[in-house]
Amino acid sequence: MDDLRVKYLDAIANAADEAALEDLRLQAVGKKGEVSLKMRELGKMTPEERQVAGPALNALKDEINSALSAKKSALADAALDERLRGEWLDVTLPSRPTRQGSIHPISQVTDEVTAIFADMGFSVAEGPQVESDWYNFDALNIPGHHPARAEMDTFYMHRAEGDDRPPHVLRTHTSPVQIRSMEKAGAPLRVICPGRVYRADYDQTHTPMFHQVEGLAIDKDISMANLKWVLEEFVRAFFEVDHVELRFRASHFPFTEPSAEVDIRCSWEGGTLKVGEGDDWLEILGSGMVHPKVLAAGGIDPDQWQGFAFGVGIDRITMLKYGIPDLRAFFDSDLRWLRHYGFASLDQPNLQGGLSR
Ligand code: PHE
Repeated sequence: MDDLRVKYLDAIANAADEAALEDLRLQAVGKKGEVSLKMRELGKMTPEERQVAGPALNALKDEINSALSAKKSALADAALDERLRGEWLDVTLPSRPTRQGSIHPISQVTDEVTAIFADMGFSVAEGPQVESDWYNFDALNIPGHHPARAEMDTFYMHRAEGDDRPPHVLRTHTSPVQIRSMEKAGAPLRVICPGRVYRADYDQTHTPMFHQVEGLAIDKDISMANLKWVLEEFVRAFFEVDHVELRFRASHFPFTEPSAEVDIRCSWEGGTLKVGEGDDWLEILGSGMVHPKVLAAGGIDPDQWQGFAFGVGIDRITMLKYGIPDLRAFFDSDLRWLRHYGFASLDQPNLQGGLSR
């Protein structure tokens, strides 16, 4: 019995894995194991012999069983330790400092503007860049002969010879999304529509493709005062400065009545563009109360509903906020420029954490 104890306790202590342990269990205390066979021999013993051998065999069996389960949990612990060592990760390490790529200022500003208007309860709507003549013009109260069509320097799409339907256009503003949003959601409505727009124009403050964000709020009792508050609130949040001066200038758009253009005080001194100081004004948006005909074109009853709309030049306000003097650089894809003016890809603008950290 002593030989069996030494043999099995040694083998169990040295078992390499659970499979080896199971083999040992079968060999020792399994149905045909050595200890079990010895127990069967008890029947052939004299009662005196049995009285000694019985308890001793039971004790041996218990000893082997507990050695087996102790070794089993030791093996499991070792396996877990091994795995934890292999999969170890220091989550407190800083991220890699060399970032590849960056967020373009236009994308950054679009996200900033969206965050500000989302906070005021506006949702985001989108429309196509290749737009029908009806959405881009007619529905916005700009009929075929209207001079505004010529003023917009529109890019027209090609039509096959003999097809005299009006050609599609590259949308000249985001205002067609007003109509699409009214058709889709009806009144009341509060949306902003950021996106690309196109006009044949090119100089320091104009490029043939640029960006606007349209705003539209429709309800029963919306007035010009609401428009003014929303725009002032937006400009203050956007420029993150206490002092910004706006100038509301009476203007004309076919799709709003009355209409106002808004300029912001700025300076171009020393080739850098600064907002909030200086003797210059830069026009940043057009706005007004939505024309009844436009509401009707969008399927909304102008006798019941009214609202305001505005269109902000995203590129313009980006130049102003980040002191970028030439609009054309936005679209040159110059890597040095992008590295200088770009934003870290993980910094999502929000009102709580700071728009442009
Ligand atoms: N669509 C006008 C433009 O591109 C801007 C605007 C939008 C004006 C909404 C009034 C209301 O110039």
